[in-house]
Formats: sequence, C-alpha cells, structure tokens
Amino acid sequence: MMRLKRIPIFSMSNQSNIWQQLQHLADDSADVSISELFADPGRVPAFSITLDELYFDFSKHRVTPTVMARLLALAEDVGVIDQAKAMSTGAMVNATESRPALHMALRRPSPALDPTFVDHVFKEREKLKDLSQQIRKGLWLGVTGKPITDVINIGIGGSDLGPRMACSALREYHDGPRIHFISNVDGAEINSLLPTLDAESTLIVISSKSFTTQETMLNASTALDWLKDELNREHPQSTSHCIAITSNTDQANAFGIGNEQILTFTNAIGGRYSVWSSIGFSVCLAVGYDHFSDMLEGGALMDEHFLTAPPEKNMPLVMGLLGVWYQNFLGATSYAVVPYCQRLGEFVDHLQQLDMESNGKTATDQGETSNQKTGPIVWGQTGTNGQHAFFQLFHQGMHLIPVDFIGTIEDRLSSPEHHRILNANLIAQSEALMTGQSSADLHQNYEGNRPSSVLMLESLTPKTLGMLLALYEHRIFVQARIWGINPFDQWGVELGKKLASNILKGGGKHDPSTSLLLQKTGLAD
Ligand code: F6P
Repeated sequence: MMRLKRIPIFSMSNQSNIWQQLQHLADDSADVSISELFADPGRVPAFSITLDELYFDFSKHRVTPTVMARLLALAEDVGVIDQAKAMSTGAMVNATESRPALHMALRRPSPALDPTFVDHVFKEREKLKDLSQQIRKGLWLGVTGKPITDVINIGIGGSDLGPRMACSALREYHDGPRIHFISNVDGAEINSLLPTLDAESTLIVISSKSFTTQETMLNASTALDWLKDELNREHPQSTSHCIAITSNTDQANAFGIGNEQILTFTNAIGGRYSVWSSIGFSVCLAVGYDHFSDMLEGGALMDEHFLTAPPEKNMPLVMGLLGVWYQNFLGATSYAVVPYCQRLGEFVDHLQQLDMESNGKTATDQGETSNQKTGPIVWGQTGTNGQHAFFQLFHQGMHLIPVDFIGTIEDRLSSPEHHRILNANLIAQSEALMTGQSSADLHQNYEGNRPSSVLMLESLTPKTLGMLLALYEHRIFVQARIWGINPFDQWGVELGKKLASNILKGGGKHDPSTSLLLQKTGLAD
C-alpha cells in the first residue's frame, strides 16, 4: 500500500497564494464555455504563438485570460525560465545523480559551458559525420569487401525510441542504408530479422548509454553469434560489422570493441534526451549528417525561444502550464497527442518515455512526497486512425482529456486530395470537441467544451521535427519545476530489473501468485 506523507511543496507563501487563486478560478471554471471566450476578438492572436515554421493555437482551452495570467505568475514565482537558463549553462539540475542535464548543449553549446565538454561535443559530431558519411558513400566495407546495405540498431528505451522515431518521421529524406530496430528481448524479433539479411553487408550498431542493459546485451550477443557463423569470424565485434554507441567506453572495450568503432556521449545526457547525441547515428545513416544537423538546429531554435521569448508567447512554457492547469486544478490525469501524419506515429511512443520516465515521480527535490499530482499519462496515436478507435471517449466519455493535435500544412509525400481530407479531419475534431452538439437524446448529445491545442508545422522536415521534439522536452521541464521534482533521473525502473535478475538466478522468496507463475513458466528453482 502506498503511504503518502502530505506536505506542501511550495514553501514560499507567494506561490501558495497563486496556487490558491488558481484553485478558486478552477472552482468557477465549470461555468466557462470555451466557445463563448471567442466573444473576445483578440482571443486567437493572444492565445496563439508562431515560431518560424511552427504555429501553436491554444485558444480552444478552458482558460480565461485571468487563468493564464495566474499560471504565468506561478511560473515566474517558481523561476522556471531562470532554472532553464541555469540548465543550459550546465547547472547541476539532476541532483539525485549529481549531474547536469546537457541535452540543450548538444544542439548549440552555450559559451558558458566547460570548454572541454564543448570540445568533446564537436569532436563527437565530427566522428559521427565522418563515420556516417563513409558508410553512406559505400567506403566502409564489411570483411568480404561489401559496402553496408543494412544496419541493425540494437538498443532500448532512449537508445531506441528517439532514433526510431526520427528515422520514421524523416522517411522522406531517407537515402542511406536500410535501418532495422531491435529493442525487445523477445527473441522472435531478432530471430525473424536476421535470416532476411546478408551478414556480409550488415552493420550491427549496439546503442546503450550504460552498455549493461540486459535486453540490449542479449540481442547484441545473438546478432554477433549470427555474424560469427555467417562470416566465419571468431570475434565479429572487432570487425567493421560492429559499432558501439555508449557513454561507458570501458564496458564496450571489455566487450571486445575498439575505440575506433565507438561513438560516445557524456553521461550528463539522459537516455530519453539522447537522440541529439551520437545515439542519433542511425538517423545520420538514414538521412545524412546534414539533415541530422538541421534537426539539431530546429532543437536549438526552440531552446532559444524557450530561454528568451516573453512568457505569454513562450510555447513550451504555455504548454507546460496548460498541462498543470488541467492536471492539478481541473482533475485531468492524462493528455493525448494525435499527430495527423502517419510518419509521426512513433513520436507518441517516444513522448511516452520522455514524459512518463521524466515526470512519473512522487519525491520532490527535498525528498518529500509531493502533495500535487505529478506526471500525467501521455497516450495517443495518429489521426485519422485514432478517430476510428478511441475518439468516441474524447467526445462522449467521462474523462477530461486535453488533446494535442499535430498537423502539417504541406506534405510532399502525400497528394492534395488526401492531405485536404487529413487536415479537414484534424480541424473538425478540434472544433467538434469544443462546440459539441446538444440533443435531448443523450446518446446523440455531445457535451462539448473539451479542450485541445493545434500544432501546425509548415511541413515535416528535420528542422521542424527538432523544434517539435525540443518543445515537448521543455514542456516536461516546465512541469517538473512547477512540481519541484527532478525530471532527469529514473530510479523507478530499477526494482523490476533487480527482481528479474533474482528470478533468473533462482533466488528469493515469493508470494503464492508469483511462485505459481514461476512454476508455470519453468522459472522456479
Ligand atoms: O530502464 C530505463 C532506461 O535506463 C532508460 O532510461 C534508458 O533509455 C534505457 O533504460 C536504456 O538504457 P541504456 O541506453 O543504458 O541501454
């Protein structure tokens, strides 16, 4: 049973005051009709933000100007942007692991950072560029002299979801070798993939920050055994068929991989924030270093905006605060992200790790139990598919679920008729959620007044993808600071790993349910 010690997370009375004012506003908010808020002709300009090729419309939210002003006051009082500035210059923001969080520095290092670190970032980028170019140009040859046609990225969590998402999103730009992703320890995946490949032209990329993750190390061993048999080489990991990406080079060396085959990144980059680092190698292989670099530029553009834009026009700040409003004051427990672009399907998977591993916490910075609900559940899938699956619940269900609709104004891979229909659906759904439609027959009644944002990209490019990704990273940071929790550790994943390891060693006492399950699966001693 979870025992929670209740303590106020805000010691400063000003913050408690703002929190109370917001609570009063929330108590009155049942009377707020989003549709009626548009009586103010200035609502759309005031409640929308344009940054370069990204338009964010947050006018269809259950938020009055007064609420927005109080939310912004809360952020000001907490010092969210000052803390973001500190993060960007290398402050020790990940206290429980005694590390800074340097993902912003991968996009554009701040001059205030340690020059040795900045030097390392640029050197690794050069190595990433050089290696990926050699492979893409067919100059990096396998042991029998064949160029690389297929790459298997073996990794899990942030060492899989980020590059997998970016490769899928940037399919339009893919002109390099085929990239396959293996993450799950479910052997059916790798066993089905390997026989379809020619080992002589296959590269195994072992992506693991720690280089100790059980699933990744087992999948890597299976792939290397296959290479060993197919190429008749005793140690395939020391050949041009294997590259490691890790911040634990000692461990990779111990695995038999030499430094010339290793790309590194600092352990101050969290796994879920690592696609911007050498972990983006598969993305470089697929679309080329220049496009990868454009993605970094997009991220840097969003960073700059986050650190400098006026609060009411600051996209990540506003987005984060809206999430706080729904979660802490109006009782929402989840938000949905629905990209109207099939290539952004994996974006939702990536976001699940990004948000839930970052903010799914109970302990505050002071090591106390938060008395505010933290980390929302994030879920979703692409539109229009989702419309035919779970949108029923959006429109008539009993949960309050703010939705982020993401669309593109143009899509060169689509065709005009398809794209018109896709966008008509996106816009119609956002409108329908807000307006509803009343009927005396409850089955036909749409209550409406349901909130959503629309994020419109000019088109899906490496740059706009970078902007979008950095936007959500910062949204999560904003909320973490409001809640006073550390978004950069992930202690909660350790216990399950430990118990699985105990089970595999045949140790430990178990409850009757667990014991029977172990017997049934042949895992009991
Ligand atoms: O178990 C969670 C986690 O540590 C994630 O944070 C991380 O992205 C993933 O495992 C993979 O870790 P690694 O890159 O060290 O293999």
